[in-house]
Amino acid sequence: MSKLILVTGGTGFIGSHTVVELQQAGFDVVIVDNLSNSKAEVVDNIEKITGKRPLFECFDLSDRALTHEFFKKYTNIEAIIHFAAFKAVGESVQKPLEYYRNNLNALMNLLECMKEYGVNNFVFSSSCTVYGQPDKLPVTETTPRKPAESPYGNTKAVAEDIIRDFAHVNSQAKCLALRYFNPIGAHPSALIGESPVGVPNNLVPYITQTAAGLRKELSIFGNDYNTPDGTPIRDYINVVDLSKAHVVAINRLISGKNKVNYEYFNIGTGNGYSVMELVNAFIKATGVNLPYKIVGRRAGDIEKIWADTTLANNELGWKAEASIEDTLLSAWNWEKKCRNIE
Ligand code: UFG
Repeated sequence: MSKLILVTGGTGFIGSHTVVELQQAGFDVVIVDNLSNSKAEVVDNIEKITGKRPLFECFDLSDRALTHEFFKKYTNIEAIIHFAAFKAVGESVQKPLEYYRNNLNALMNLLECMKEYGVNNFVFSSSCTVYGQPDKLPVTETTPRKPAESPYGNTKAVAEDIIRDFAHVNSQAKCLALRYFNPIGAHPSALIGESPVGVPNNLVPYITQTAAGLRKELSIFGNDYNTPDGTPIRDYINVVDLSKAHVVAINRLISGKNKVNYEYFNIGTGNGYSVMELVNAFIKATGVNLPYKIVGRRAGDIEKIWADTTLANNELGWKAEASIEDTLLSAWNWEKKCRNIE
């Protein structure tokens, strides 16, 4: 029986791109997803890109009994990449219990099953949100974490702590968290990408939907920040580059190259772009007009953050490669494909 990588949330935005990269690197994959924020067709599209259909099980990982059933059925799991989680910052403020229950129960069920069924390798999808607004930029992995701004952000911080404590007493386990900066873009095939439900919260889906005519104009949330053009700065990382970091992480754990049994890495480009710079890069890359207006700040937004990626570059041997223009073009090509725009 061949070994499998379990990808939870594998039909979601980052999950689906990671399944593609894993399969292209020769791994066999089983996806677990409850389709709460994604569609089953994603599995077909992964197959179209890679020529290989991942296994797929549809259930909710916050259900402990179902999670145990899964591990009883699949006795050949070699590693887990855990993406499955609720991720809307604003919604998490309104529904804190749903967020804590879903995100933390799923994590604990998986860790419990790792121990019980002898799965040793675990990669966790974390976020730069754990740094809050850092005092010094760029942020390294030793930059102190700040209290979370939202229940969503707190689920990431608490999850990291749970994994650290689990690894501490389970010497067989090898755990690794990737702290993503702002993932954007889509697969160059335009067969998979980001599909937000309803009005997008994130900048790039809002930009592409505005360019496609679905939204009247982009609202830029504040131009009075302490940045060169007054708009906030983020480190936008191409989703395919980000997905490749997961393949590197899996290989590191499977081959036992990890230094300690809980490691964490920043996954970004190392470059900060302001909202205004990103808008201009989009217009330049696509040649499409983008109506926008400046409005007031969005509550909870930080001013600026970008990654120091030295540790990921040197220790993982991973580096972001795509240009911001190519990445924005890939997001636009995906939007056009979804809307049947020529
Ligand atoms: N922005 C706009 N207009 C919009 C949407 C966003 O001006 O319509 C601005 C925001 O103010 C911010 C930047 O674009 O300055 C990026 O905003 P996003 O919502 O795309 O991303 P965030 O940096 O706010 O959030 C991301 C992830 C979260 C994660 C957070 C950690 O989406 O999951 O980073 O900082 F928690």
